Amino acid sequence: MNLKFTALACLTALTFNAAAQKSMPIIVNADKSIAKVQPTMWGVFFEDINMGADGGIYAELVKNRSFEFATPLMGWSVKGKKISEGDVLILNRQQSPVNNPNPRFMRINVRDAASKTDMGIVNEGFRGMGIKKGLSYNFSVMYRQAAPGVKLHIELLDEKNNVVGQTVLVPAESGTEWHKQGVSFTANNTVAKGKFGMWLEGNGVIDLDMISLFPGDTWKQRPGGLRSDMVQLLADMKPGFIRFPGGCVVEGRDLATRYPWKKTIGPVENRELNINRWNTEFKHRLTGDYFQTYGLGFFEYFQLAEDIGAQPLPIINCGMACQFNTAELVPLEQLGSYVQDALDLVEFANGNVNTPWGKKRAEMGHPEPFNLKMMGIGNENWGPQYLERLKIFTDSLKKHYPDIKIVNSSGTDPNGARFDFLNNALRKNKADIIDEHYYRSPDWFFSNATRYDSYDRNGSKVFAGEYAAQSDGIAKPTNQNNWQCAIAEAAFMTGLERNAAVVSMASYAPLFAHAEGWQWTPDMIWVDNLHVYGTPNYYVQKLYSLYKGTDVVSITTGNKAVAGQDSLYASAVVDHKSNELIIKIVNASKKVQTRSVQLKSNNKLPLTGIHTYISNDLKAVNTFENAVNVSPKDERIAVKGKTLPITLQPYSCNVVRLALR
Ligand code: AHR
Repeated sequence: MNLKFTALACLTALTFNAAAQKSMPIIVNADKSIAKVQPTMWGVFFEDINMGADGGIYAELVKNRSFEFATPLMGWSVKGKKISEGDVLILNRQQSPVNNPNPRFMRINVRDAASKTDMGIVNEGFRGMGIKKGLSYNFSVMYRQAAPGVKLHIELLDEKNNVVGQTVLVPAESGTEWHKQGVSFTANNTVAKGKFGMWLEGNGVIDLDMISLFPGDTWKQRPGGLRSDMVQLLADMKPGFIRFPGGCVVEGRDLATRYPWKKTIGPVENRELNINRWNTEFKHRLTGDYFQTYGLGFFEYFQLAEDIGAQPLPIINCGMACQFNTAELVPLEQLGSYVQDALDLVEFANGNVNTPWGKKRAEMGHPEPFNLKMMGIGNENWGPQYLERLKIFTDSLKKHYPDIKIVNSSGTDPNGARFDFLNNALRKNKADIIDEHYYRSPDWFFSNATRYDSYDRNGSKVFAGEYAAQSDGIAKPTNQNNWQCAIAEAAFMTGLERNAAVVSMASYAPLFAHAEGWQWTPDMIWVDNLHVYGTPNYYVQKLYSLYKGTDVVSITTGNKAVAGQDSLYASAVVDHKSNELIIKIVNASKKVQTRSVQLKSNNKLPLTGIHTYISNDLKAVNTFENAVNVSPKDERIAVKGKTLPITLQPYSCNVVRLALR
């Protein structure tokens, strides 16, 4: 954000409109802490939906790299004038020597191949492959050959099949064992929808598996890592937590396709592919090529959390598949292995390296614990069946790990019979944290800014686990991340912040969407193969997260919370680490509003502060072409003694930071 110290801003206090004096003053009492803001207050919700993981943040460019998709050659084409029937086969080693999580491989019989047009395979990528000029690319493959004889020519191709990067890999080993080998090369052009090609030269039979290509600019340059541009946007938010892996993927359409965290760790070639439940969820957004490779698995999620300074919040299946789909249940007497998954997950994250699961973490390169403090049991599960299962998990987790806080589901909606049933029961059971979800209209968000004002301060804490204002129906192409939705969320979030005594965590959902691979709208961050942009909602989330403060202080007008009077919504915090008073005010009206904020503080107040604001037309959106159309601007704001005169632009979200001395 640019800090513009404009003459205009300096003069604000002097030229302040007399109208401000007539309105009811807004009063901030900066000296008295009302509640602590939890470090986890503002976080992110990650789910592999909308090609968020495979085809998104997981930087693998090859789709169906191990031929395990339902259709083994999905994403691949086989080409060449020397290919005869039976020369290119998919084999399945399921039973040999033991059950194999990645059973299929490709066998190519190469005969007198000498040029590109003789024998080759091409991979189309997820929605094409984003290729960047000057960037190195890391190709790797698992292969097996009885005797040397085949060379692999690797190519990056543009939309017109021009070669924009190439290298040769000569498989060095032979015999009956599988070997992994790789080579790096550089692209000489930028392409939005490139492809990967491999043509073969020589004579012999070669078996291929895990045909993989990663860009060299992954986050922290980790091999097989994450798209750095996408991670950077998360890191920039400084989120207090990251919830993973969802969302409905935790539940699966049925129990067989639920999220199996234990199968997502260890060497990637041993991670068993699973269908993504969003593959078939919405008829108007069928995504037949959506599978989970688990290249981004639980180890990587924990590592990501650590990298961006967020507390990890894994959610695990509670013995119930999605109740909108099959609603399959694990009989109570068979819940043991599910509960064991929860216990083992704590050991995987926190156990010392001599424990069975701590050892696995160490073998993956992280002997230090990940410092797991909380876990969600179930996603959007509801009904007495949920309570029965939750109790079994809770008893066991509390017995073995009494310090782990458990996030409980309150179902799919923030009100209604299902919600009331669970909310009452969970509060009676003294649940640690209750996860509430709201996908509602902007009006709902405005009118629920006071939702938590009356919640019991000493009861269960609330996790506003999934929320997003909807400009239209969920998952419609016309459901937009516009400023109207974002400003409604900003208003609602002042209510969350004011009630930090009750609300300990909050996250917008979903997080990522690929412009050509989405199932659900709206989404916080949009990507294509080369670009990424934050929506207006992203910038609101970021502002609240960066300036979350440590203590809530009172901000009132006429002795009441500022929650809709004159279309204003406000909250205030003090940050005892940076010694700042931070005031957030949303002006949800179409008028400029001028206000005198009276500051009660024993601290010496500064002469100026920083006023960060976003203001725009309600229909305004960000796009790939204009990624920061709706984004914050900074200006200096003058303080007049104990008064902060402020001009609030129409439809604006404002954050003022004043240094306290
Ligand atoms: O955020 C998208 C979906 O919304 C989540 O998977 C689910 O929990 C909710 O219904």
